[in-house]
Amino acid sequence: RKKVTVGTIRSMYKKDEPISVMTAHDFPSAAVADAAGMDILLVGDSLAMVSMGMEDTSEVLVEEMLLHCRSVARATKGAFTVGDLPMGSYEISPEQALETAIRFVKEGRIQGIKLEGGKEMAPTISRITSAGIPVLAHIGLTPQRQNALGGFRVQGKTSSGAMSVLEDAFAVQEAGAFAMVLEAVPAEVATLITKKLSVPTIGIGAGNGCSGQVLVQNDMIGNFPPGRFLPKFVKQYGNVWDETLRAITSYKTEVKARQYPGPEHTYPIAQHELEAFEE
Ligand code: KIV
Ligand code: NA
Repeated sequence: RKKVTVGTIRSMYKKDEPISVMTAHDFPSAAVADAAGMDILLVGDSLAMVSMGMEDTSEVLVEEMLLHCRSVARATKGAFTVGDLPMGSYEISPEQALETAIRFVKEGRIQGIKLEGGKEMAPTISRITSAGIPVLAHIGLTPQRQNALGGFRVQGKTSSGAMSVLEDAFAVQEAGAFAMVLEAVPAEVATLITKKLSVPTIGIGAGNGCSGQVLVQNDMIGNFPPGRFLPKFVKQYGNVWDETLRAITSYKTEVKARQYPGPEHTYPIAQHELEAFEE
């Protein structure tokens, strides 16, 4: 597989070829998404919830994100890798953000970073991109700010709300973001914003008019315990939980019945060695 770069993403955008993005948080989840041909692998801070069982993303630490980034980087052959800057690691100043971004590249071994926010993050995005680290912006619904947004709410549902998302889109584009995630925005608004921009939009809950799509891998493959709330935009393409539960339950049954391991799973010993041992 040929390695995807920002140049590849740029040329896909120019050819109007949709950009496929998937989250990954460890070696197997990255290896499988890379093997499936994803263009970009995102080590999203959603791993706080889907892999670490946290309530929301605000708890996850830079060190924890870096550990996951390294595992993803080791597994990724073709996709462009992006790591999510966690809450608290970039909001204080552009310098703080650049320091964290550099750690993601040096210690996390990923190629680009993502951070949440629009206009107000423009100086930070320029600071990071001018240091040569590609930035994927994230506007619309920004989950790290759920407490200020009053929960996980659709953004841009009014004309003034839509205008504010558009202003954010222009601001992050101007600041040098190579693309932007557009989360939970009415499809028509996302389509109009996408048409006005000259960099790709990566939609999640933003309809089919974006330049690409991203989903959280655990959600789309059904790899989560029953009862997890799934947002309306998630399409579940598989049921890894059910398959894993079936496999582990069969193993348990066979262990309890002394059916596993069978002779084919054991190591032989020469008869004379065994007899000498038994003496
Ligand atoms: O953390 C994450 O997985 C994300 C994507 C859903 C865009 O931010
Ligand atoms: Na995220």
